Amino acid sequence: MRAIQVTRPGGPEVLEVVELDLPEVTPGHVLVRVEAAGVNFIDTYQRSGLYPVDLPFVPGSEGAGEVVAVGEGVEGLAAGDAVGWAFTTGSYAEYVLLPAEDAYPLPGEIELDMAAAVMLQGMTAHYLVTSSHAVKPGDVVLVHAAAGGVGLLLTQLAAARGATVIGTVGTEDKARIAQQAGVHHVIRYDLMDDIATQLPQAVRRFSPAGADAVYDGVGRATFDGSLASLTRRGHLVLFGGASGPVPPVDPMRLMRAGSVMLSRPILRDFLATPEEREWRAGDILHGVLLGDITVRIDRGLALEEAADAHRALESRATSGKVLLHP
Ligand SMILES: NC(=O)c1ccc[n+]([C@@H]2O[C@H](COP(=O)([O-])OP(=O)(O)OC[C@H]3O[C@@H](n4cnc5c(N)ncnc54)[C@H](OP(=O)(O)O)[C@@H]3O)[C@@H](O)[C@H]2O)c1
Repeated sequence: MRAIQVTRPGGPEVLEVVELDLPEVTPGHVLVRVEAAGVNFIDTYQRSGLYPVDLPFVPGSEGAGEVVAVGEGVEGLAAGDAVGWAFTTGSYAEYVLLPAEDAYPLPGEIELDMAAAVMLQGMTAHYLVTSSHAVKPGDVVLVHAAAGGVGLLLTQLAAARGATVIGTVGTEDKARIAQQAGVHHVIRYDLMDDIATQLPQAVRRFSPAGADAVYDGVGRATFDGSLASLTRRGHLVLFGGASGPVPPVDPMRLMRAGSVMLSRPILRDFLATPEEREWRAGDILHGVLLGDITVRIDRGLALEEAADAHRALESRATSGKVLLHP
């Protein structure tokens, strides 16, 4: 089968097209033909070595496709079933071997591209608004990169829970896209000379007390501004570092910022049981099917274009989901 392989950490150029043997179906696993693989920032962190992984490896932890073989002991899945997944590295390939518990049976009506686009970023947005900081009506939340993959979904879910959403974006086009997704107030942080001081001022023009929660997946470039944008006892949810990792933080800064909270969550800890996974995946997929959640697919590329996909994501050129089609 064709696959993308990384043999050494580095830039997008280390994503090489290779021929690999088809994985053998092992007990507790299903072999899936990948229709679409989702491209996520975590793939770039693993490729660059920021998140160390054993080499060589086939990147991509998300996708959707069709089960072609079922291993011993697997119940409830059969050849021909459509499944989505968000946790199994190896998705940038024609076939992937999934642990059965990571293969989520898809409702028949959902398109595989749509499922691949929403599994990881959708469940992320879901836990961020329900569990990291449970958004309630009247909350003011600041969403960074609001026109990004997670950002667009997070905006919709937070607005649906009754929050006023302030969103940062990097271009005028992204401002329009974020507003269509439900951002009430857009901030162009790319035009700021000093995000740390100008961002909190901009936020307080819309909400004088500051934001109840800040969802920050941008990281290094925005962290100081995020902390200063919070209301007293607000919550900074740092969930990624698209601009780079945040340096160590002195806990006294949280006191000085108004007895605020800082958390640094990751999706896998919010899919801790089959019930929790069912809840989040079910809410997201049914939200898409009912039309309550709109998914924006920025681009779909061929598997061989994986390096271009990473370049686009890392250069802030995308707005919404990037998919690879093996
Ligand atoms: N913790 C978790 O469970 C979890 C799960 C999924 C994703 N994440 C995190 O969520 C964040 C967003 O992921 P995504 O896949 O949806 O990506 P994305 O938001 O579609 O892309 C990242 C966006 O970040 C903004 N950005 C600002 N400064 C940047 C810089 N220096 N370099 C690159 N981007 C920059 C850009 O938007 P503008 O042009 O508008 O600034 C860019 O489009 C990432 O940090 C990712 O690691 C975390």
